[in-house]
Amino acid sequence: MREEAEKKELPRPHTTAVVLAAGNGSRMGTTVRKQYLNIEGKPVLFYALAAFEHSALIDEIVLTVGDEAQRAYCQKEIVDAYGISKVSRIVIGGKERYHSVFHALKAMQEGEHGYVLIHDSARPFVTEEMIARALEAAEKYGAAAVGMPVKDTIKIADEKGFAAQTPRRDLVWMIQTPQVFAYELILRAYESLMRQEKELLEQGVRITDDAMVVETLTDVPVKLVQGSYENIKITTPEDLKVAGLFLK
Ligand code: CTP
Ligand code: MG
Repeated sequence: MREEAEKKELPRPHTTAVVLAAGNGSRMGTTVRKQYLNIEGKPVLFYALAAFEHSALIDEIVLTVGDEAQRAYCQKEIVDAYGISKVSRIVIGGKERYHSVFHALKAMQEGEHGYVLIHDSARPFVTEEMIARALEAAEKYGAAAVGMPVKDTIKIADEKGFAAQTPRRDLVWMIQTPQVFAYELILRAYESLMRQEKELLEQGVRITDDAMVVETLTDVPVKLVQGSYENIKITTPEDLKVAGLFLK
């Protein structure tokens, strides 16, 4: 009993959520960028911010947006309008998602952050359970990403569009966000990425998530934990319809 009480009193490391909203949403094809489109009367970006605002595990939020105009819009129409008090900075992102993450990590004061949770604003259905699972695994292993086992058989095609390989389905995951890392680990990994960006691009490497940065640039294995099949990324117009149904 006593041990348990003492355990609970241990100070929790400072945990910062980086929320990415600097993309152009080109696959959605709307004039208004997808993170600002409404579902059930509120902007897509609102839902992830609200989840972190209400999470007992998140101390601070760093938001990345596309430009100065979006910064002003987000501050007034989203952060102030909905009372998202944990947003400490709104940072301008970069050309690729990984540039936006790097800008956010650089904007954070070194030494102040224990863990960083990185999340796509295009995923409105992040839950407290997911945050807790990912954070717990990151505290144990240094790096964790949420995902789900795939339901379909996955094939790797050759360049001509013929089936070349069929990986064991029980080992294939679709990866989502949040992804959580010890701050020093993810900062160093991104610094190495930026130093080697040109060579990696020449080798055909395309960085699409944060776990991949840790896999490629460090020797720390990333623990995969369960997200949810509802934790979809709003990418194309059908996803908006599905998201509307989930919210109802
Ligand atoms: N993102 C970002 N900075 C970029 C690119 C993407 O912050 N340079 C963010 C997006 O706003 C999104 C998340 O990363 O919340 C996941 O990216 P994705 O779903 O690919 O969004 P977009 O890049 O905006 O969409 P698309 O690829 O269709 O253009
Ligand atoms: Mg993109």
